[in-house]
Amino acid sequence: MDKKFFDYIIHGGDYNPDQWINTPEIWDEDMRLMNLANVNSATVGIFAWSMLEPEEGVYNFEWLDKILDKLHANGKDVILATPSGARPAWLAQKYPEVLRVNENGIRNEYGVRHNHCLTSPVYREKVRKINTLLAQKYKDHPAVKMWHISNEYSGECHCELCQEAFRDWLKAHYKSLDELNEKWWNGFWSHQMTDWSQINSPKDRGENHVVAMKLAWKRFVSDSHISFYENEIAPLREITPDIPITTNFMRMYDGIDYQDFAKHLDLISWDNYPGWDRGETGKEALCAAFVHDTFRSMRDGQPFFLMESTPSIVNWHEVNKIPKPHRQAQSSVQAVAHGADSVQYFQWRKSRGGHEKFHGAVVDHCGHENTRVFREVSQLGADLRKLSDVVGKGYNGKVAIVYDWQNSWATSVFCGYNNNERDYFSECVKWYKPFYERGIAVDIIPMDGDFSKYDLVIAPFLYMLKDGTIDRIESYVNGGGQFVATYLTGIVDEDDLCYLGGFPADRLKDVFGLWCEETDSLPEGMTNTVEYNGKEYTAINFCDILHSTGAEVLGTYKADFYKENPAVTVNGYGKGKAYYVAFANEDEFIGDFIKDITDGLDLGAPEFSIPDGVSVRKRGDCTFILNFAESERTVTLDKEYTNLITDEKTEEITLPVCGYAVIK
Ligand code: GLA
Ligand code: ZN
Repeated sequence: MDKKFFDYIIHGGDYNPDQWINTPEIWDEDMRLMNLANVNSATVGIFAWSMLEPEEGVYNFEWLDKILDKLHANGKDVILATPSGARPAWLAQKYPEVLRVNENGIRNEYGVRHNHCLTSPVYREKVRKINTLLAQKYKDHPAVKMWHISNEYSGECHCELCQEAFRDWLKAHYKSLDELNEKWWNGFWSHQMTDWSQINSPKDRGENHVVAMKLAWKRFVSDSHISFYENEIAPLREITPDIPITTNFMRMYDGIDYQDFAKHLDLISWDNYPGWDRGETGKEALCAAFVHDTFRSMRDGQPFFLMESTPSIVNWHEVNKIPKPHRQAQSSVQAVAHGADSVQYFQWRKSRGGHEKFHGAVVDHCGHENTRVFREVSQLGADLRKLSDVVGKGYNGKVAIVYDWQNSWATSVFCGYNNNERDYFSECVKWYKPFYERGIAVDIIPMDGDFSKYDLVIAPFLYMLKDGTIDRIESYVNGGGQFVATYLTGIVDEDDLCYLGGFPADRLKDVFGLWCEETDSLPEGMTNTVEYNGKEYTAINFCDILHSTGAEVLGTYKADFYKENPAVTVNGYGKGKAYYVAFANEDEFIGDFIKDITDGLDLGAPEFSIPDGVSVRKRGDCTFILNFAESERTVTLDKEYTNLITDEKTEEITLPVCGYAVIK
């Protein structure tokens, strides 16, 4: 769980000296400014391929030698990137197969970035070659401490090579066409395949209604990214076995199963861009916390890197509002509270031209240090130095919420019930919120994670079950665990085939002591009411209509033809308890229900009470307190602590808007 890559928090970000190659005085100025900004690292070379290989087989590493030496002379650690995220024009011109083909079969022209085929042997070979050279050249460079592979892998390609690779993937997965036809339920609409070559990638002008096929394509694309990455890192593993490897993830990006990809990395890193101060700051903080916890949980609580964040604005919102002063520092400290061992920016210096010239940076076009953003970054750098106690400290919660990438795919692609309200992420965040508000650490795990570590596992909207999930839920509850499921649980298997014999699937009916006969969907504006513990709550969107076959009924519906039917149940099973919440609802019910079922459990909440809008999180022996409210907040502590930021002893902390404290 603990894992240390540096002895201090890394503070730096994407640095593109290659854009300033004709003004070397800027490089020296960068060194001066980095020292002033309390920056200790730089991520170099992300999109630098055409500067490294201006013509096929003609290499120029001189500029990189120089800048790495300069960074080293200034005491900076370098995170060295591989350049596959964007490619030189000559490469695309000479080998058109490296470019992506869209779902209509049209090959993209050269341009933008992330525009490469994931299968192309030529592209894979070229990437391997340039990565090999980088590794050979810099394997002993004292500044180089980590590999940053490509950049935000994403997208998909529908070229002939990818179609063939998809068919090979299907053959390996399904063994025979008969099996595939059976699993995809191809008797429906006369879809039996009689030759593998009849199968193409899903698309609007072709097949887009076979859900199992869409899931297979998503799995294939995800695996293609991972195998593309494995090809990239093969020479690095061989030549630089001691340099850790990461690639930057994008929040809950749907195109890759990050929970699977995580197994291939030495550490997780991700790019965090909340929409601060646009009217929903509390919600942004809650969602950012959830995402941080998702990444912390991917490698058993191990610290992760905050690979990118903006020091001020982005350029890709419709309207790019400047966050409040100190918000970015607070956002960075929030990441550290949740397990980040780095605070890095996109970007160090604003580019002069190009698409991102108005994206925030530590150094603005004015070029000097006398800016609000620069001052805030250097202040944060000074604060981060005081937090080296937490570096390398991983942690796990005693509560887990199941957020499973593949279930997220499955819940988004099927057709039926309430097609408007199927936001799996928001549903999971709703269940996370009461813990977040009480300062309790929660792990966010896939359905094949280890349930046995937790006192409580909550699996909202667990519609699809991966193989083995039924057994794992059963043995967890049987062994003494508490498990919470909600509406539409255990409906289909991995191929989106419905379980027969009543929902939830198979033996889960025994575990929960019930079965679900129908599911009602409520159009927007229509509600039902549920009475639970003498109080009434609103049911929205989904209402499972249940029969208890042994479960104790804790709450019932109050309206419609299923009035008095169970809506909240608990079943004693083995040594544990299985809860079922049959309806979607607003936060209020979840808050009260969680309070009831966690009563008496020690889930590691702080010993002091947390004012509204304040978020508290323990990491190692430090406690982080962050004020996301719109006005000042005072926190009365349970005893005397040292505030590591101000170095004062204190029993009470008053935080301004955007304020933070770290106490020990
Ligand atoms: C992403 C990319 C960066 C940059 C930023 C802008 O995270 O990785 O290269 O484009 O977005 O916000
Ligand atoms: Zn392709």
